[in-house]
Amino acid sequence: MRRKLLLGNWKMNKTSAEAKEFALQSRPLAEKAKLNNIDLGVAPTNLSLATVKENASKDMIVSAQNVHFKESGAFTGEVSIPMLKEFNIDWVLIGHSERRAYDNETNEKCNLKIKALIANDMVPVYCVGETLDEFDAGKTKDVVGKQVREGLKDLTKDDVKKLVVAYEPVWSIGTGKNASTDIAQDVCKFVRDVLKELFGEVADEIRVLYGGSVKPDNIKAYLSCKDVDGALVGGASLKIDSYEALLNNIL
Ligand code: 13P
Repeated sequence: MRRKLLLGNWKMNKTSAEAKEFALQSRPLAEKAKLNNIDLGVAPTNLSLATVKENASKDMIVSAQNVHFKESGAFTGEVSIPMLKEFNIDWVLIGHSERRAYDNETNEKCNLKIKALIANDMVPVYCVGETLDEFDAGKTKDVVGKQVREGLKDLTKDDVKKLVVAYEPVWSIGTGKNASTDIAQDVCKFVRDVLKELFGEVADEIRVLYGGSVKPDNIKAYLSCKDVDGALVGGASLKIDSYEALLNNIL
């Protein structure tokens, strides 16, 4: 049985002071989520990771939004795995479409990062999804299949047990233009089928999330889909009231 997972991606939002306030307010929510067998988390900016870890419930997942695959070196502006581990941060979003679009995050680079995270016993949340042009051209499964195969290249069955995959159609991110639940289910099932082909039955243990304009009023419909195990939420995760409503609507 796969546990439901609700993960907020704050992107480049919130100062440390704002992040701390949210972390303190989220404490009862993390307890409520735990009682209901739901994993709850947020992905703040690097500068707020430590304060959120310190002030949120210990049951709250605190995820970075990116990491470098090398341990140290001349990589200006980057953060390494040991730096995250020092603050007990063991989840990281990899290959978010905004990083793919603006920061040249290729499948190959994602693969290096995912392998480095797994070698360090950390949890990668590997983001995949097609652009509007690719969707319109009927290429969703070609693109997503390639992202999964190349991003997870050379991993073993044991490696992928802790992995989470998030399907986020780029055209639905921050646009209010939702993918239908049929599309979400179809592509999340497709992701699981590719995982099954690559890694066998362990694919049934891997959580596949949907992301893209998930709001309190539609989250339940997405999570009712058989192959959608949770949600990766941007805008609606920023305010504590909305975040609480997301959780309440999937209890
Ligand atoms: P929105 O929920 O704001 O559409 O963002 C989705 C997202 O990119 C989460 O990673």
